[in-house]
Amino acid sequence: MAKYNFDTSINRKETYSIRWDVKDGELPLNIADMDFLVMPEIEKSIKSRAEQACYGYTYVPDSYYEAYIRWWRDRHNTRLEKDWFVYSKSVVASIDSIFKHLGKPNDVVVMLTPVYNVFFNCIENNNLVLKECEFIINEEFSIDWIKLETQLRGAKFFLLCNPHNPLGRKFTIDELNKIINLCKQNNVYVISDEIHGDIDLNKGRYISILNSGVTRYDKVITLLSPSKMFNVAGLHSSVAVISNNKLKEMVQNGFWQDDIGEPNYFAIDPIITAFSYGDEYVDQLNSYLNENRTFLIEFLIKNLPNLKIVSGTYTYLVWIDISCYSKDSRLFAKRLQEATGLVVAPGINYGKSGEGYIRLNIATPRDNLIDACNRLMNYISENEEE
Ligand SMILES: Cc1ncc(COP(=O)(O)O)c(C=O)c1O
Repeated sequence: MAKYNFDTSINRKETYSIRWDVKDGELPLNIADMDFLVMPEIEKSIKSRAEQACYGYTYVPDSYYEAYIRWWRDRHNTRLEKDWFVYSKSVVASIDSIFKHLGKPNDVVVMLTPVYNVFFNCIENNNLVLKECEFIINEEFSIDWIKLETQLRGAKFFLLCNPHNPLGRKFTIDELNKIINLCKQNNVYVISDEIHGDIDLNKGRYISILNSGVTRYDKVITLLSPSKMFNVAGLHSSVAVISNNKLKEMVQNGFWQDDIGEPNYFAIDPIITAFSYGDEYVDQLNSYLNENRTFLIEFLIKNLPNLKIVSGTYTYLVWIDISCYSKDSRLFAKRLQEATGLVVAPGINYGKSGEGYIRLNIATPRDNLIDACNRLMNYISENEEE
């Protein structure tokens, strides 16, 4: 019997939710947070901290890192050490700070695209030069190794999103090893953003870069966070994991200079609770998400067979090929929103190679998903060709 309930509808309007700050009747399935209740243990932990009613400066205790270490040992069979951790208030803030302190203007960053849109901002904000290595479009969206090898020559950073937002794919151990080897040959820092790590809908654990080259190559920075799987993005709690002590110190100094290395008052205990008691929650969450994904696939096959889900079973973000209806994903998303109130993310947001796709967040109660599917169907049946 499921212990946690993912069907409860939560009214997030007028709660300063970035995603739900929409017009009446609109259904936003664009931004990546979940419409599910957190596990009750997290809520209890927050309430108990709140009851102290004295919210001063907070440091990160060892028990915070020990909770990560336990999770990684039991769930991923991976040994992490306490002195590899650096606290950061967010993954994006970490990437920005790493670029700022380890890079200099005009350094090259290579990314596999389409990819999480905010990565592009981090590159631009730090006056770095982006080289996009577009996935080869096939069943798996495979890596263009020849292009990647060329682009890494002379590059400073390789920024990986693993599992991949928006494609929902994981990387195999062979792919990760190959990435590590290429980056090592070219002396390139590897930054692996693994914020979606434990959202594995089909029980196929993703493989972290920590399981591949971390001890073989000393320029790997892995970014972990509880925010996606436990729906605690608003608590601002994440870590960088770096096994090379010298690099770790450089990153830590950068985080302090940028004032992102200290937690807020609510960022510690609830996260310890999540990692200590959250296994069952995450398992049940993944099952629910998997059912949502299956529902969506079956709905599309039956009602909109020209729309194709091309993403894999990682993350709660689904990548849908809309190219037979529209080649302009921004216009498609705009008109869909105007006509039906359904808000989706246009694929072009994730790089040029994202054109012709939309991204849909399925971390919402089934009723919302059914509603979204009907809105999409009605829109398309009334606007066959754009
Ligand atoms: C790949 C990826 N990295 C980072 C973030 C944001 O992380 P944070 O809120 O910790 O900055 C997101 C949010 O959607 C994401 O998809």
